[in-house]
Amino acid sequence: MKFDDFAQLVRTRRSQLIVDQERDVEIDLINQLCSVATWAPNHQQTWPWVFGVFTGESRRGLSNATADAMQRNGDSEMKVTKTRTKYLRAPVVVVVGSAPGESALQNEENRDAVAAGVQNMLLGATALGLASFWSSCPKGCNDDVARHCGFASGTHVTAMIYIGWPTKDLPAIERPAPAITYFT
Ligand SMILES: Cc1cc2nc3c(=O)[nH]c(=O)nc-3n(C[C@H](O)[C@H](O)[C@H](O)COP(=O)(O)O)c2cc1C
Repeated sequence: MKFDDFAQLVRTRRSQLIVDQERDVEIDLINQLCSVATWAPNHQQTWPWVFGVFTGESRRGLSNATADAMQRNGDSEMKVTKTRTKYLRAPVVVVVGSAPGESALQNEENRDAVAAGVQNMLLGATALGLASFWSSCPKGCNDDVARHCGFASGTHVTAMIYIGWPTKDLPAIERPAPAITYFT
């Protein structure tokens, strides 16, 4: 692949949630995206990424587990009610977790590696023509979502990625020029 093609792919990726609700995403494509995540750089090769793939009715279960945690945390009734259908907004939601390390530094590096893996997934989705959207785990819901996914205790939920077939192309968001200092 030429650099220009790669740069074009990177620039084409958008956080996109306007998707065809009726069109499923083949599970093989999701497996391929999880697979490219594992090719991210990973200090000490801890392979920290874990994935929970939600389709169909299971998206409602994920929404309810999140909403229940929010309710327990005292979030507003409006927010809780909205969350009960939150993960139905795309045909697939992939929850990506970062397993705990054996030290604070390893925790941090695991999370960085998983974030790099998530970007691999988003770019892969873009290359496949899929829309993707990286969403944080709602505040105070990490442990409930991780438990719902069957992840080990202490797992950090790095991303809840919506995936579907786009029904609209979004224009690129222009970026400020990178702040670069040259040391010679
Ligand atoms: C770590 C991380 C967490 C994010 N969480 C959310 C989120 O919870 N809700 C949301 O609307 N967007 C979320 N985003 C998406 C950003 O808002 C989005 O990337 C940004 O607006 C730039 O748009 P683009 O991705 O289309 O270039 C998140 C992005 C990252 C990297």
